[in-house]
Amino acid sequence: MLSSETMLEIDIAGIKMKNPIMTGSGTFGFGEEYSDFVDLNKIGAVVVKGTTLLPRCGNDGVRIAETPSGMLNCIGLENPGVEHFLSDILPRLKKYDVPIIVNVSGNTVEEYGQLAKILDVYGIAAVELNVSCPNVKEGGIVFGTNRDSAAAVVREVKRNTSKPVIIKLSPNVTDIADMAVAVEEAGADAISMINTLIGMVIDVDTWKPVLGNITGGLSGPAVKPVAVRMVWQVAQVVKIPIIGMGGIMTAEDAIEFFLAGASAVAIGTANFVNPSAVEDVAKGIQEYLVKKKLTHVSQLIGQLKVNK
Ligand SMILES: Cc1cc2nc3c(=O)[nH]c(=O)nc-3n(C[C@H](O)[C@H](O)[C@H](O)COP(=O)(O)O)c2cc1C
Repeated sequence: MLSSETMLEIDIAGIKMKNPIMTGSGTFGFGEEYSDFVDLNKIGAVVVKGTTLLPRCGNDGVRIAETPSGMLNCIGLENPGVEHFLSDILPRLKKYDVPIIVNVSGNTVEEYGQLAKILDVYGIAAVELNVSCPNVKEGGIVFGTNRDSAAAVVREVKRNTSKPVIIKLSPNVTDIADMAVAVEEAGADAISMINTLIGMVIDVDTWKPVLGNITGGLSGPAVKPVAVRMVWQVAQVVKIPIIGMGGIMTAEDAIEFFLAGASAVAIGTANFVNPSAVEDVAKGIQEYLVKKKLTHVSQLIGQLKVNK
C-alpha cells in the first residue's frame, strides 16, 4: 500500500505536483489571498489570475451575476501587469512549496510570445494560455475559437519559453476535439479545459443586461456536464495530459473528470463558496481511493466504462 501522500502525487508535463488538484485562474487571486483559509503547500499547483503585458483595470459596471447553479462574470482581466507580478508578487509566492503556473492573455500572437519570454524565469513552473480573448489584429476574433489562431499562439509561446505550455481551451466552439488536435500538433504540452461558456442575464424590470459588459462567462455546477463531455471527447484524440475543470465542487465531481480522461483537475467557482475547497477535494479523493481499494489516483484516469 502506498502512503496516503504518494497516492495523489502526479506529474503533468514535467510539473511535479503533490496532488492533482489545482486552482482555476481568476478564482484564487495570486494564491496568497487564500492563505488564511488553505495551506498553499498542500495544493497541487496554484494557477494565478490572468496576467497581461500591461496592467488592466477590467470592465466597467456590474461584473458578477449569480445564475441557477452557477455564476456569470465579466471581470475583463483586471490585473497589475506582468512586471508587477514578477517584481512584487512572485518573490512572496516563492516561500510556498507549490508550483506556480501563470495564466496569460494577449491581444496579439506576438504578445503571448513576449509574455512567455518575460515569464521564463526561476520560480514559475509553467504558463497557461488563456485564448478566450480577442485577437486585435484579426478583427477581434477570439483566439480560442479558431484552430489556426490557437495553434499560432502555441507555436509562438513554445519558441519563447523553456517552461511547459498549457493551453486552456474555450468551450465556445463547434468541435472541441478538432481544437485539441490543432494545439497538440502545434506543440502544447498539456490542455486545460474548460474556460467559461458565454452567457447573459437580462433584468426584466429595466430591460437591460445585468452585466456591464452585456455578456459574461458562465461557470460553476451548471457547466459541469458540458465540461465532462468535452474532456471525454478530447481524451479520445490527444496524447498530452488534460487538466479538467468546470463546476467541480466535491471530490465526486473531480472523479468524474478523471474517469472521463483528465490527469488533473482545477477548482474555480467553488473557491467563492468554500475557500478551502481545494483541500477538501484532495482529501475526498484520497478517501475514495481507499474505499475503492485503489493505490494511486492514476488508476482512475480514462477508466470510463461505456456499454456498447
Ligand atoms: C471570476 C472568474 C474569473 C476568471 N478569470 C479567468 C482568467 O483570468 N483566465 C482564465 O483562463 N480563466 C479564468 N476564469 C475561468 C476559470 O479559471 C475556469 O476555467 C472556469 O470558471 C470553469 O471552472 P469552474 O466552474 O470551476 O469555475 C475565471 C472564472 C471566474 C469565475
